Amino acid sequence: MSQFTTLGFHHVTLVARDVRATLAFYRDLLGFRLVKRTVNFDDPSSYHLYFGNETGAPGTIVTFFEWPASARGRYGIGGIHHHAFSTSTRDTLLQWKRWLNGRGVPTSGPMERGYFTSLYFRDPDGQVLEIATRGPGYAIDEPIGTLGSTQTQPGSTQLPGGRDEAAIAAETWPEPVNAITPEMQLAGLHHVTGMTDDLDRASEFYEAALGLRMVKRSVNQDSPDVLHYFWANYDGTRVLSGSSLTMFGWPPRAPRAQYGAGQTHHIAFRAPDRESQTAWREHLLSIGLSVSPVMDRTYFESIYFRAPDGMLFEIATDGPGFSVDEAEPGSALKLPEWLETRRTEIESALQKLSG
Ligand SMILES: [Fe+2]
Ligand SMILES: [Fe+2]
Repeated sequence: MSQFTTLGFHHVTLVARDVRATLAFYRDLLGFRLVKRTVNFDDPSSYHLYFGNETGAPGTIVTFFEWPASARGRYGIGGIHHHAFSTSTRDTLLQWKRWLNGRGVPTSGPMERGYFTSLYFRDPDGQVLEIATRGPGYAIDEPIGTLGSTQTQPGSTQLPGGRDEAAIAAETWPEPVNAITPEMQLAGLHHVTGMTDDLDRASEFYEAALGLRMVKRSVNQDSPDVLHYFWANYDGTRVLSGSSLTMFGWPPRAPRAQYGAGQTHHIAFRAPDRESQTAWREHLLSIGLSVSPVMDRTYFESIYFRAPDGMLFEIATDGPGFSVDEAEPGSALKLPEWLETRRTEIESALQKLSG
């Protein structure tokens, strides 16, 4: 594989109107750790919160810009429809359903998608989220060596009309779930799904820019006249978990995505280190992309560029990570050095967060 093949997602960044509701949802309901509380470096009057696993490992990170006055965003071409977090088994998926429903969060599923089983719900700003089982994976209907080489068709029981919607709605974990058990803990980003107006052009772009290869050509199982393609870090023998980007192919005149609350702002992929990222930046420039300079984000270094359909991508380095400026990540409001002199003013403008 090329040196410009990403190891998968680093983080996704969303927009939230009320960070207190976001904290309650992602930390207390989904069981993420708040690994960093800081401000938007470009607008220090608002929070930038980072959630992740215990260590804030790349691939587990979801971050939020706080835009309190933001209108609701909208998914569409060049934007994200949903992102999925990984759970180990169908049993833990059902436990998540019981847990969320018991706390007033409506869900849809479990949906048998073939490659995995999925549960859907929304965050407080309306972003669609999914929890998906790790397996069985993309090799259930094509040989592992030739994934993505044929157009596949889901079984009729996976499609509207053939699904037993009442049975799906009724199925849940038989016992009350009163805590997020270690087995339930979400294991990071499973896949991210967006919309594009040109799947072939998107495919060329993901391969050239990120080294992602097609692993599935299928259809949107909720709307089977819409094509649904999947790309991932794939070497012909395995698909790396936490690297699946999937796109619905929408017609060119369909609505475009609009930034705002409840809409993903950008998706970041991993580069192992600064040297690799510098080379990657040169590579992106050499294929004709417009790429930002390297930005120091304190916890990683970032470059930004756009897909042909307008989607904003970032490549972020794995290090230095969230323990670079505090021993107990997430415990205090952290500011970059150049904002420390304004700490009192900045803190007084931010609403207080619990815990
Ligand atoms: Fe999905
Ligand atoms: Fe980012």
